[in-house]
Amino acid sequence: MDIKIITVCGYFGQSLPTDSSIDTEKLAKYLELKKHTISTIDIQDLQSEEIDTQAYYIVGSHQNPDIKKYIDDTLNIVFYGKNEKLLIPNKYNILAHENKGVQALLAKKIGTEYFPHQEYFIRPVGISKTVVAKKTDGAGSSGVELVNNNEALIQVLKKFSRYDLNLNYLMFALKTLIKKHLLKNKYSESFNTYHKKYTRYCLQEFYSGLTCDYKVLAFGSTLYVLQRDVRSGSFKASGSGKFTYPNAESELLDFCDTLRKKIETPYVSLDIVKLKDGSFKCIEFQCVHFGPYTQMNAKKKYVKSEHGVWQTKENNLSLEEVYAQALDEYLTKSAEQK
Ligand SMILES: Nc1ncnc2c1ncn2[C@@H]1O[C@H](COP(=O)(O)OP(=O)(O)O)[C@@H](O)[C@H]1O
Ligand SMILES: [Mg+2]
Repeated sequence: MDIKIITVCGYFGQSLPTDSSIDTEKLAKYLELKKHTISTIDIQDLQSEEIDTQAYYIVGSHQNPDIKKYIDDTLNIVFYGKNEKLLIPNKYNILAHENKGVQALLAKKIGTEYFPHQEYFIRPVGISKTVVAKKTDGAGSSGVELVNNNEALIQVLKKFSRYDLNLNYLMFALKTLIKKHLLKNKYSESFNTYHKKYTRYCLQEFYSGLTCDYKVLAFGSTLYVLQRDVRSGSFKASGSGKFTYPNAESELLDFCDTLRKKIETPYVSLDIVKLKDGSFKCIEFQCVHFGPYTQMNAKKKYVKSEHGVWQTKENNLSLEEVYAQALDEYLTKSAEQK
């Protein structure tokens, strides 16, 4: 198959550290070994080229918000209409990168049984029980807090909004204060409501009493599992640094394998929790630009055999190799289903 790798100034997606890209030359080499034809195109050049409807376009993402916006804008329009299916991962999953709000909306489309109940908001809503409030673009657990009443939500939203303060907004807030108290005839409540800062957030059903979560990287039917224990005095596991590589149970692996297929992606990073009744839920997912730490450091990988049995094997793959393997597996299966 013809595969085009979309890059941003040579950057495809995350290796370690975050600002170093997966090696696209190595990725291309491994894909060529699987009999694909590879070329690379910069995102800025996409708009001037005719889209090749015989090719697949693979894309990563970026954490710089201006670049991310450029990626979303460009891909949404360039892969318009039926060309949408040429883009891997699909544009909904790219939009969901660094955006827990989009993930909350997508969860309802993918299947509510895999996720906690969750919704995406722009204004404060009434709170009647303990829920998890998440800032849409929070990472490293800084934008994740428990709230149990209306006032607590207001306070958390104020805290989240402080993460985004910039000079333009400070100027607006200062002018509003002056109008409100000194130039009262210039103050308009409606003007303020329209222009003031809003903080996008989502509310998620809270699972109490968890001692850990699982970071599962699924590259096709090859999975890597990291257990992250919660920090002392907190419900949060991400960023705790308390990492181990467990002997993952097959129910967890089956859940992740099924969910990856439901998300319709060759690869995905899943944050999974196990509930008291033994069931699993996905509290966060990323299909592009996810942290590769688990894949790069795990001694073992879990591979699903043709008979559906999970086998534990030595992790003998580089990051580029496992990406290539997952893409090949996904494209081959898609071609078979056509
Ligand atoms: N719905 C939930 N119920 C219980 N704990 C949660 C829930 N959502 C998140 N957590 C905990 O908070 C941590 C951070 O949440 P997450 O949504 O993964 O954000 P991030 O990884 O961006 O910090 C998770 O690792 C998990 O331990
Ligand atoms: Mg997380």
